[in-house]
Amino acid sequence: MSPAPVNVAVTGAAGQICYSLLFRISQGDLFGPDQPVRLQLLEIPQALGALDGVVMELMDCAFPLLADVQTGDDPEKVFDGANLALLVGARPRTKGMERGDLLEANGAIFTAQGAALNKVAADDIRVVITGNPANTNALIAQQNAPDIPADRFSALTRLDHNRAKSLLSKQTGAPVTDIKRMTIWGNHSATQYPDLSHTTVAGKPALDLVDHSWVEEEYIPRVAKRGAEILAARGTSSAASAAGATVDHARDLFRGTPEGDWTSMAVVSDGSYGVPEGLVSSFPVTTSNGDWSIVEDLDVSAFSRSRIDASVAELESERTAVKELRLI
Ligand code: NAD
Ligand code: LMR
Repeated sequence: MSPAPVNVAVTGAAGQICYSLLFRISQGDLFGPDQPVRLQLLEIPQALGALDGVVMELMDCAFPLLADVQTGDDPEKVFDGANLALLVGARPRTKGMERGDLLEANGAIFTAQGAALNKVAADDIRVVITGNPANTNALIAQQNAPDIPADRFSALTRLDHNRAKSLLSKQTGAPVTDIKRMTIWGNHSATQYPDLSHTTVAGKPALDLVDHSWVEEEYIPRVAKRGAEILAARGTSSAASAAGATVDHARDLFRGTPEGDWTSMAVVSDGSYGVPEGLVSSFPVTTSNGDWSIVEDLDVSAFSRSRIDASVAELESERTAVKELRLI
């Protein structure tokens, strides 16, 4: 007998990212080949027609694991009983914008959704924020859900993590599977810090294999500005890779990071590595059964310190901005 379906709420369900994400979830990429899922899809009223078309396509795939699909525009109805909420729905930036410029436009979405999750989600709810600016939107949702433990919220820096691995793989000629202990610190923004200090490539320190000037002048800026590079090339922001990273993030959260490795997630800081408590900042984390732990006691060089501090300062200014907007 198959287990009871997991209830997965997804917002922005008629958007670009979800056009890939919903199909990945339904084919078992998140919870594995034996776990049925029920999709609970939220959209704004104007997009419910387009969402009907996406649901028709989901039906037409005849996914064996897709137990049910519900749709709606009321978060209190759509989030009812959700075990996992993937908050994707938000406006993407357009050319010339930084992700933080979206705070005013998108922040309010996350007050209402945090409050609705607080009211109607299942007791074991986990919430993953992809919509930008992801870290501070996660802070807003978390602050508006006082009855949900803060460690149930996380925001996506997995796309940056994957980009950092892929670019290092290209530079060293090693397959991505040889790359372990990659870390993204800070904000999912141009200030993020992809840190190779603890990264290994086939067991060797990554920093022994690449030039320091390449790391500082090419690697870090390329990873940090990859979203803008894609936006310039495609005319719209990354979508399939963002869906892939959302699947990777949520899959690892539930099914665990491999022994001897870690991943990057933006989580509510407990003060580790000098990141002020309460900020949603990216750290190296290990995961298991829906929970995460920050990897502690890593050495932080003076260069790393200055990079982490710069990104954390940006997160602090975003927190001040959303306080002024009365979103938290
Ligand atoms: P999109 O414009 O194609 O889709 C967004 C969808 O969200 C739209 O269908 C819209 O109707 C819906 N929406 C808006 N407000 C909503 C609300 N209150 N409730 C439910 N749905 C709502 O955008 P996209 O390309 O799918 O990107 C979605 C978000 O993800 C953007 O903010 C984008 O910047 C962000 N993003 C994040 C990452 C990351 O790594 N964190 C990567 C790529 C994109
Ligand atoms: C990305 O990193 O590709 C996304 O956050 C989209 C963006 O605005 O850069």
